[in-house]
Amino acid sequence: METVVSGLVSQVFLRCVEDCLEPIMLTDRHGRLTYVNPAWVMTYGYTKEEALGKTPRLLRSTHQDEEFYKNIWATILNPEHGFWKGELTNRAKDGHLVPVLLTITPYRENGEEVQGYMGIAVDLSAQKTMEQQILHQDRLASIGLLAGGLAHEIGNPLGVIRGRAELVLNQVSGNDFAEKNLSIILGQIDRMSGLIQSLLRVSRVPDQVPLRSLSLGRAVNDVVELTAEECRRKEIALRLHNVEHNILGEEGKLQQLLLNIVINSVHAIEEQKKNDPRPNQVHFIEINSKILENGACGLTVRDSGCGIPSENIGKLFKPFFTTKEVGKGTGLGLAMVAKLVDEIDGKVSVQSHGVGQGAQFNFEFKTPEKPISCENR
Ligand SMILES: Nc1ncnc2c1ncn2[C@@H]1O[C@H](COP(=O)(O)OP(=O)(O)OP(=O)(O)O)[C@@H](O)[C@H]1O
Ligand SMILES: [Mg+2]
Repeated sequence: METVVSGLVSQVFLRCVEDCLEPIMLTDRHGRLTYVNPAWVMTYGYTKEEALGKTPRLLRSTHQDEEFYKNIWATILNPEHGFWKGELTNRAKDGHLVPVLLTITPYRENGEEVQGYMGIAVDLSAQKTMEQQILHQDRLASIGLLAGGLAHEIGNPLGVIRGRAELVLNQVSGNDFAEKNLSIILGQIDRMSGLIQSLLRVSRVPDQVPLRSLSLGRAVNDVVELTAEECRRKEIALRLHNVEHNILGEEGKLQQLLLNIVINSVHAIEEQKKNDPRPNQVHFIEINSKILENGACGLTVRDSGCGIPSENIGKLFKPFFTTKEVGKGTGLGLAMVAKLVDEIDGKVSVQSHGVGQGAQFNFEFKTPEKPISCENR
């Protein structure tokens, strides 16, 4: 009778483990996987067949070093602890990272000898994304305070200095030396004002302007026109493919964000030319758009520039992240792009196969419910 009951209990437990939404794995005492539940398969993308017999090393990411894993085992094998619980970042089969809260406990035969280990993970991906967003908002809020103060404390005197410099410039016509130096002063004042304006734009609360249907093609053409001369001089081919859809947005914001992206591409190509000065290399900035399966309009801007090292990918949209020399970049361009995209309910992400391999920025924009292209044609 007791055997029947315990058999039933085991079946119920097995069902629970199979149906559990958190990834669970069992290993033998040598650490080889003997069981993984369906949630584990879903989370990490390996099939049972691929996983069983391997060790959980399969999931290791470079977020933790060898020492970290050694410590885990030292803690589990230490009779005073006997288990390990903590956060770590695993790597799924397709390479994406999965932050988890993992508990590893040994299981024993009759409470005596260790038979193997059980790992239960709680997927923290959603929580981590939310934490990042809150951190980002906090950072923007403090930049907002800073920018507000700067705009007032520095912006006003700068305006006065600019006005006086212009006045003097008008008085010295014919004096090349004075003209040249006053123009430099004016240029630098404009740079400082530009920086303050960028800070204000990155941090301000978005205006609630209703989005309207506008031509992506027109915005892209405007930006191409603005940058065409510079690209021609730098021998960069600007290629447009199929950029003709209508999206929901605001013209000014769309132009501003595209301009930032294209200018960054120009800089990245210049950098690449410095790193790899072989002649006759074809450099390009390619802009493509298409309607995606979800009905949104996808826009990609791809370049043949210096690429982005993987460790920088996660930092690009953070305010003040720049790899440019002091005085050449403020690191506010992409923070502003992220903000503008957010304001028009879009999405932006970046891809790069690494240093020297170019970069691609992917946008998703909302489209009018009834595409205007159908109404207007
Ligand atoms: N197309 C690209 N290819 C390679 N790296 C890029 C590309 N676009 C951006 N980056 C990297 O992202 C960093 C941040 O870009 P962002 O536009 O925010 O600032 P910035 O260009 O350095 O300065 P600025 O505030 O003047 O725009 C750059 O310094 C560069 O390292
Ligand atoms: Mg920039």
